[in-house]
Amino acid sequence: METVLSGIRPTGNLHLGNYFGAVKSFVQMQNEYDCYFFIADWHSLTTCPKPEDIQRSVRTILVEYLACGIDPEKATIYMQSDVKEILELYLFFNMNAYLGELERTTTFKEKARKQPDNVNAGLLTYPTLMAADILIHKADKVPVGKDQEQNMEMARRFARRFNTIYGVEFFKEPQSFYFSEKALKVPGLDGSGKMGKSEGNCIYLKDEPDVIRKKVMKAVTDNGPQEPNSPKPEVIENLFTFLGIVSDKETYDYFNEKWNDCSIRYGDLKKKIAEDIVAFNTPIREKIQEFSANQALLDKIINEGADKAREHVQKTIREVREIVGFRTY
Ligand code: TRP
Repeated sequence: METVLSGIRPTGNLHLGNYFGAVKSFVQMQNEYDCYFFIADWHSLTTCPKPEDIQRSVRTILVEYLACGIDPEKATIYMQSDVKEILELYLFFNMNAYLGELERTTTFKEKARKQPDNVNAGLLTYPTLMAADILIHKADKVPVGKDQEQNMEMARRFARRFNTIYGVEFFKEPQSFYFSEKALKVPGLDGSGKMGKSEGNCIYLKDEPDVIRKKVMKAVTDNGPQEPNSPKPEVIENLFTFLGIVSDKETYDYFNEKWNDCSIRYGDLKKKIAEDIVAFNTPIREKIQEFSANQALLDKIINEGADKAREHVQKTIREVREIVGFRTY
């Protein structure tokens, strides 16, 4: 069975865009692959968060992934920082990573621009840590968005370089697995492009029904169709995209007809979208509440995930030490 690995940065609550863009496919993948999903808490240190913020955000993301249906019986879920072997591989990769290539990555340049007062070595070596995350499991496939392509290319390069330097065929090149093409792109409701945290237009999985209703009712619309069968402007198309994602086909066709014969009432359309989002969110929100209230269960999941992940990397790290010329133990 092929191994899939994905790292999740703990950056706040999951929204519908995250769910339909990525999490939903993680949930499907755990039935078909040997999946390792980890929370990239070491990576989060590049922005120097407070200890209590790390603890909170790590728990939040864990709870929300579990609530979405990532199942610790099927996939291994763990904290990056629980698998110290990753650091050893990170060190080996860093010894053969060149300043020039690290400086040239777009993610580094972007982050350095965002935090000019804290351009630290962790930021620079983000791609070597990511390569270590992946290669320590000898992962075949890595589900990522397009923004991670350069980091994936670096991971493949570090794998090849290690093989070349030591004259071995040890690491294979991990493949990027773009679910983003097949996945649904959830639009924003503010007339802008997609739903995103930085756009401030998110409907979160944890949102209560009233919050969802308010957000949907505020969605941008226009003056309505001026003549039958006219094309839909972007803001209206966005509402229909939502309808396509959370409602059934009859509902979609019903409102589409109303658009085409110019009798559509946006208030009704929004009410229906809101109710269908609430219906979709409710079981997830309830599970979020259940998991959050059960810290003992979360601890158990974290401990068992750490054990499984550590066990899975032992052979690789032992062989790497041997190849590099260190004693094995
Ligand atoms: N860089 C990824 C992101 O920003 C997170 C990540 C860290 C990751 N290590 C990884 C993703 C290993 C896949 C594999 O989303």
